Amino acid sequence: MRTPLVMGNWKLFGTKDTISALIKGIEGTANSTKNVEVVVCPPPIFIEHVAKLTQNNNLKFGAQNVSEHITGAFTGETSSDMVKEFGAKYTLVGHSERRQYHFETNEMVARKFMAAQNSGLIPVLCIGERLLDRETHKTFEVLEKQLKAVTNLVGVAAFEKAVIAYEPMWAIGTGRVATAEQAQEVHSFIRSWLRAQNEVVAEKVQILYGGSVKANNAKNLFAQPDIDGGLVGGAALIVEEFVGIIEAI
Ligand code: 13P
Repeated sequence: MRTPLVMGNWKLFGTKDTISALIKGIEGTANSTKNVEVVVCPPPIFIEHVAKLTQNNNLKFGAQNVSEHITGAFTGETSSDMVKEFGAKYTLVGHSERRQYHFETNEMVARKFMAAQNSGLIPVLCIGERLLDRETHKTFEVLEKQLKAVTNLVGVAAFEKAVIAYEPMWAIGTGRVATAEQAQEVHSFIRSWLRAQNEVVAEKVQILYGGSVKANNAKNLFAQPDIDGGLVGGAALIVEEFVGIIEAI
């Protein structure tokens, strides 16, 4: 019912050559695995390069971030309209590295979510708790605040054309993956929270897990009823790993 989605977030990695090789390595699997959508998110400077390399295969691409503004004097920013012009389908918004290192607030992330949808992109809203939040049993409270900032601005129905990625901060780049049970518990919380407001949206929205997803742990995670795929960092830069993750769906 929900199409499984595997997204690679390449973060600040890659050259034109390594990106060409990576796409060559994964496109065959993306073409033959009909029931999974495979998406790559390159650094913004490589968007046009990736647009060309994905013209004749099943891969889709997205941005890692967009500005909350569409045009204006905002040096160094990239707008959702610009990303859309090159054929992107998605953009991440509110990745924890943006929240942590670029001080993006829940409200700013909500405005980016809105800008993305206004440009015709599908926002992938990244949410997740810190280790301290988990240890002090504040996980659900933190996630609810992150979700609420978006529904307050655009309403819950906006999630009909959006994706949610649950990425616990303590699992990102640490090799410490959430157990399938831990992830499922949170995914189920997110879906129930949405269901209380709009059942149709709750059933429809894809909720991805991210944080140290590898070829050898993906199957267990993807087998959970509320996990609809993965948002993959490090392992998305290695052909065999990423292919293994796609095949684990
Ligand atoms: P890792 O897979 O490297 O832990 O990164 C996860 C992530 O942040 C994807 O957006």
